[in-house]
Amino acid sequence: MRIALVGPPGSGKGTQGELLGHRLSVPHISSGDLLRDATRAGTPWGSKAKDYMDRGQLVPDELVLELIKERVARRDCDGGFLLDGFPRNPDQALALTRVLNGAGLDHVIAIEVPEQSIVERLSGRRTCRGCGRLYHLTFNPPRRFGRCNVCSSELFVRDDDREDTVRERLAVYRRQTEPLMGFYSDAGLLRRVDGSGTPDQVTRRILEVVEELR
Ligand code: AP5
Repeated sequence: MRIALVGPPGSGKGTQGELLGHRLSVPHISSGDLLRDATRAGTPWGSKAKDYMDRGQLVPDELVLELIKERVARRDCDGGFLLDGFPRNPDQALALTRVLNGAGLDHVIAIEVPEQSIVERLSGRRTCRGCGRLYHLTFNPPRRFGRCNVCSSELFVRDDDREDTVRERLAVYRRQTEPLMGFYSDAGLLRRVDGSGTPDQVTRRILEVVEELR
Protein backbone atom coordinates (compact mmCIF):
# COMPACT_ATOMS: atom_id res chain seq x y z
CA MET A 1 0.00 0.00 0.00
CA ARG A 2 1.45 3.35 -1.08
CA ILE A 3 -0.10 6.33 0.68
CA ALA A 4 0.76 10.04 0.73
CA LEU A 5 -0.37 12.39 3.49
CA VAL A 6 -0.77 15.97 2.36
CA GLY A 7 -1.92 19.04 4.23
CA PRO A 8 -0.77 22.43 5.47
CA PRO A 9 2.08 22.86 7.96
CA GLY A 10 0.97 21.68 11.38
CA SER A 11 -2.05 19.75 10.10
CA GLY A 12 -0.70 16.59 11.75
CA LYS A 13 1.03 14.76 8.88
CA GLY A 14 4.02 13.77 11.02
CA THR A 15 1.83 12.71 13.96
CA GLN A 16 -0.45 10.64 11.72
CA GLY A 17 2.50 9.28 9.74
CA GLU A 18 3.98 7.82 12.91
CA LEU A 19 0.65 6.37 14.17
CA LEU A 20 -0.46 4.98 10.80
CA GLY A 21 2.96 3.59 9.95
CA HIS A 22 2.65 1.31 13.02
CA ARG A 23 -0.97 0.43 12.32
CA LEU A 24 -0.38 -0.40 8.64
CA SER A 25 3.13 -1.87 9.13
CA VAL A 26 4.72 0.30 6.46
CA PRO A 27 7.62 2.74 6.85
CA HIS A 28 6.74 6.38 7.51
CA ILE A 29 8.83 8.58 5.23
CA SER A 30 8.82 12.30 5.99
CA SER A 31 10.52 14.48 3.36
CA GLY A 32 11.02 17.15 6.05
CA ASP A 33 12.82 14.64 8.31
CA LEU A 34 14.96 13.38 5.42
CA LEU A 35 15.95 16.97 4.65
CA ARG A 36 16.65 17.82 8.30
CA ASP A 37 18.88 14.72 8.59
CA ALA A 38 20.71 15.76 5.43
CA THR A 39 21.23 19.33 6.64
CA ARG A 40 22.76 18.05 9.90
CA ALA A 41 25.47 16.33 7.86
CA GLY A 42 26.80 19.85 7.10
CA THR A 43 27.52 19.26 3.39
CA PRO A 44 27.26 22.26 0.96
CA TRP A 45 24.15 20.56 -0.39
CA GLY A 46 22.70 20.42 3.14
CA SER A 47 23.43 24.10 3.83
CA LYS A 48 21.66 25.05 0.63
CA ALA A 49 18.58 23.03 1.64
CA LYS A 50 18.60 24.52 5.17
CA ASP A 51 18.60 28.02 3.75
CA TYR A 52 15.34 27.31 1.89
CA MET A 53 13.79 25.58 4.91
CA ASP A 54 14.65 28.41 7.32
CA ARG A 55 12.94 30.86 4.96
CA GLY A 56 9.83 28.66 4.75
CA GLN A 57 10.37 28.03 1.02
CA LEU A 58 10.25 24.69 -0.75
CA VAL A 59 13.65 23.09 -1.32
CA PRO A 60 14.30 22.66 -5.09
CA ASP A 61 12.59 19.56 -6.46
CA GLU A 62 15.78 17.85 -7.64
CA LEU A 63 17.32 17.88 -4.13
CA VAL A 64 14.22 16.38 -2.49
CA LEU A 65 13.70 13.86 -5.27
CA GLU A 66 17.15 12.38 -4.81
CA LEU A 67 16.39 11.69 -1.15
CA ILE A 68 12.97 10.19 -1.85
CA LYS A 69 14.26 8.07 -4.70
CA GLU A 70 16.97 6.58 -2.52
CA ARG A 71 14.56 6.00 0.39
CA VAL A 72 11.72 4.26 -1.50
CA ALA A 73 14.23 1.98 -3.21
CA ARG A 74 15.12 0.35 0.12
CA ARG A 75 13.87 -3.16 0.85
CA ASP A 76 11.59 -2.10 3.69
CA CYS A 77 9.44 -0.24 1.12
CA ASP A 78 8.73 -3.38 -0.93
CA GLY A 79 5.34 -3.78 0.78
CA GLY A 80 4.46 -0.10 0.55
CA PHE A 81 5.14 3.14 2.42
CA LEU A 82 3.52 6.20 3.88
CA LEU A 83 4.83 9.47 2.50
CA ASP A 84 4.50 12.61 4.63
CA GLY A 85 5.13 15.99 2.96
CA PHE A 86 5.99 14.57 -0.44
CA PRO A 87 4.87 15.22 -3.13
CA ARG A 88 4.42 18.92 -2.54
CA ASN A 89 3.57 20.16 -6.05
CA PRO A 90 2.34 18.61 -9.31
CA ASP A 91 5.90 18.31 -10.71
CA GLN A 92 6.94 16.23 -7.71
CA ALA A 93 3.83 14.08 -8.17
CA LEU A 94 4.78 13.35 -11.77
CA ALA A 95 8.37 12.65 -10.77
CA LEU A 96 7.18 10.21 -8.09
CA THR A 97 5.23 8.21 -10.66
CA ARG A 98 8.42 7.97 -12.73
CA VAL A 99 10.45 6.89 -9.68
CA LEU A 100 7.86 4.15 -9.03
CA ASN A 101 8.10 3.02 -12.66
CA GLY A 102 4.61 4.27 -13.44
CA ALA A 103 2.99 2.46 -10.48
CA GLY A 104 1.90 5.61 -8.63
CA LEU A 105 0.14 5.96 -5.28
CA ASP A 106 -2.90 4.05 -4.02
CA HIS A 107 -4.30 6.80 -1.78
CA VAL A 108 -3.67 10.48 -1.18
CA ILE A 109 -5.05 11.63 2.15
CA ALA A 110 -5.54 15.38 2.58
CA ILE A 111 -5.69 16.32 6.26
CA GLU A 112 -7.86 19.40 6.73
CA VAL A 113 -7.51 21.67 9.76
CA PRO A 114 -8.68 25.27 10.32
CA GLU A 115 -5.93 27.91 10.21
CA GLN A 116 -6.43 28.88 13.87
CA SER A 117 -5.60 25.29 14.93
CA ILE A 118 -2.50 25.30 12.74
CA VAL A 119 -1.08 28.35 14.51
CA GLU A 120 -1.93 26.84 17.90
CA ARG A 121 -0.38 23.47 17.01
CA LEU A 122 2.85 24.88 15.60
CA SER A 123 3.43 27.39 18.36
CA GLY A 124 3.31 24.59 20.96
CA ARG A 125 5.20 21.92 19.03
CA ARG A 126 8.33 20.42 20.55
CA THR A 127 10.47 17.75 18.87
CA CYS A 128 12.88 15.30 20.45
CA ARG A 129 16.48 15.86 19.42
CA GLY A 130 17.25 12.17 19.92
CA CYS A 131 14.42 10.13 18.37
CA GLY A 132 12.34 12.79 16.59
CA ARG A 133 9.15 12.05 18.58
CA LEU A 134 6.62 14.91 18.47
CA TYR A 135 5.08 16.67 21.48
CA HIS A 136 2.81 19.61 22.11
CA LEU A 137 2.97 21.79 25.21
CA THR A 138 -0.83 21.63 25.66
CA PHE A 139 -2.17 18.71 23.62
CA ASN A 140 0.58 16.16 24.20
CA PRO A 141 3.00 17.40 26.85
CA PRO A 142 6.04 15.34 27.87
CA ARG A 143 5.98 13.80 31.35
CA ARG A 144 9.17 15.65 32.30
CA PHE A 145 9.46 19.27 31.14
CA GLY A 146 11.76 19.64 28.10
CA ARG A 147 12.65 15.92 27.94
CA CYS A 148 11.46 13.09 25.71
CA ASN A 149 9.33 10.38 27.38
CA VAL A 150 11.07 7.67 25.38
CA CYS A 151 14.78 8.54 25.19
CA SER A 152 15.05 11.48 27.67
CA SER A 153 16.79 13.64 25.06
CA GLU A 154 16.19 17.39 24.94
CA LEU A 155 13.07 18.74 23.22
CA PHE A 156 13.58 21.66 20.85
CA VAL A 157 11.60 24.20 18.82
CA ARG A 158 12.12 23.84 15.07
CA ASP A 159 13.88 26.82 13.43
CA ASP A 160 11.04 27.17 10.92
CA ASP A 161 8.32 27.35 13.61
CA ARG A 162 8.98 31.07 14.20
CA GLU A 163 5.82 33.13 13.57
CA ASP A 164 7.06 34.90 10.41
CA THR A 165 8.34 31.63 8.88
CA VAL A 166 5.07 29.85 9.69
CA ARG A 167 3.17 32.61 7.83
CA GLU A 168 5.48 32.14 4.82
CA ARG A 169 5.10 28.32 4.93
CA LEU A 170 1.31 28.72 4.87
CA ALA A 171 1.52 31.10 1.90
CA VAL A 172 3.84 28.67 0.07
CA TYR A 173 1.41 25.86 0.83
CA ARG A 174 -1.53 27.77 -0.71
CA ARG A 175 0.48 28.82 -3.75
CA GLN A 176 2.46 25.68 -4.55
CA THR A 177 0.90 22.69 -2.79
CA GLU A 178 -2.84 23.33 -3.06
CA PRO A 179 -2.74 22.77 -6.86
CA LEU A 180 -1.74 19.21 -6.01
CA MET A 181 -5.30 18.61 -4.70
CA GLY A 182 -6.73 19.23 -8.17
CA PHE A 183 -4.09 16.96 -9.67
CA TYR A 184 -4.93 14.02 -7.38
CA SER A 185 -8.66 14.72 -7.43
CA ASP A 186 -8.61 14.43 -11.24
CA ALA A 187 -6.71 11.16 -10.84
CA GLY A 188 -9.47 9.88 -8.48
CA LEU A 189 -7.02 9.37 -5.60
CA LEU A 190 -7.74 12.29 -3.26
CA ARG A 191 -9.57 11.65 0.04
CA ARG A 192 -10.21 14.59 2.36
CA VAL A 193 -10.15 13.82 6.08
CA ASP A 194 -11.13 16.09 8.96
CA GLY A 195 -7.92 16.64 10.98
CA SER A 196 -9.60 18.10 14.08
CA GLY A 197 -10.08 16.20 17.34
CA THR A 198 -7.50 14.01 19.03
CA PRO A 199 -4.72 12.31 17.03
CA ASP A 200 -6.41 8.92 17.64
CA GLN A 201 -9.71 10.19 16.26
CA VAL A 202 -7.94 11.44 13.13
CA THR A 203 -6.13 8.10 12.73
CA ARG A 204 -9.47 6.27 12.93
CA ARG A 205 -10.94 8.51 10.21
CA ILE A 206 -7.99 7.86 7.92
CA LEU A 207 -8.09 4.11 8.53
CA GLU A 208 -11.82 4.07 7.70
CA VAL A 209 -11.08 5.75 4.37
CA VAL A 210 -8.21 3.39 3.58
CA GLU A 211 -10.26 0.30 4.52
CA GLU A 212 -13.21 1.48 2.42
CA LEU A 213 -10.97 1.66 -0.62
CA ARG A 214 -9.25 -1.68 -0.18
P1 AP5 B 1 7.93 19.48 6.89
O1 AP5 B 1 8.75 18.97 7.99
O2 AP5 B 1 7.24 18.51 5.98
O3 AP5 B 1 6.93 20.54 7.48
P2 AP5 B 1 5.41 20.90 7.15
O4 AP5 B 1 4.80 20.28 5.95
O5 AP5 B 1 5.37 22.37 7.22
O6 AP5 B 1 4.63 20.18 8.25
P3 AP5 B 1 5.00 20.16 9.76
O7 AP5 B 1 6.05 19.13 10.01
O8 AP5 B 1 5.24 21.54 10.27
O9 AP5 B 1 3.61 19.74 10.39
P4 AP5 B 1 2.83 18.37 10.37
O10 AP5 B 1 1.68 18.48 9.43
O11 AP5 B 1 3.75 17.21 10.20
O12 AP5 B 1 2.24 18.41 11.84
P5 AP5 B 1 2.74 17.63 13.17
O13 AP5 B 1 2.29 16.24 13.13
O14 AP5 B 1 4.17 17.92 13.42
O15 AP5 B 1 8.82 20.39 5.93
C1 AP5 B 1 9.67 21.39 6.46
C2 AP5 B 1 10.36 22.11 5.31
O16 AP5 B 1 11.13 21.17 4.54
C3 AP5 B 1 9.42 22.76 4.28
O17 AP5 B 1 9.00 24.05 4.68
C4 AP5 B 1 10.32 22.80 3.05
O18 AP5 B 1 11.28 23.83 3.15
C5 AP5 B 1 11.07 21.48 3.15
N1 AP5 B 1 10.38 20.38 2.47
C6 AP5 B 1 9.79 19.29 3.03
N2 AP5 B 1 9.26 18.51 2.09
C7 AP5 B 1 9.52 19.11 0.91
C8 AP5 B 1 9.19 18.78 -0.43
N3 AP5 B 1 8.49 17.66 -0.75
N4 AP5 B 1 9.61 19.62 -1.41
C9 AP5 B 1 10.32 20.73 -1.12
N5 AP5 B 1 10.64 21.11 0.13
C10 AP5 B 1 10.24 20.30 1.14
O19 AP5 B 1 1.86 18.39 14.26
C11 AP5 B 1 2.14 19.72 14.65
C12 AP5 B 1 1.89 19.87 16.17
O20 AP5 B 1 0.52 19.63 16.43
C13 AP5 B 1 2.69 18.86 17.03
O21 AP5 B 1 3.08 19.50 18.21
C14 AP5 B 1 1.66 17.76 17.34
O22 AP5 B 1 1.93 17.15 18.59
C15 AP5 B 1 0.35 18.55 17.37
N6 AP5 B 1 -0.78 17.77 16.87
C16 AP5 B 1 -0.80 16.91 15.81
N7 AP5 B 1 -2.04 16.38 15.66
C17 AP5 B 1 -2.81 16.94 16.64
C18 AP5 B 1 -4.20 16.82 17.00
N8 AP5 B 1 -5.03 16.01 16.32
N9 AP5 B 1 -4.65 17.56 18.04
C19 AP5 B 1 -3.79 18.39 18.72
N10 AP5 B 1 -2.48 18.55 18.44
C20 AP5 B 1 -2.01 17.84 17.39
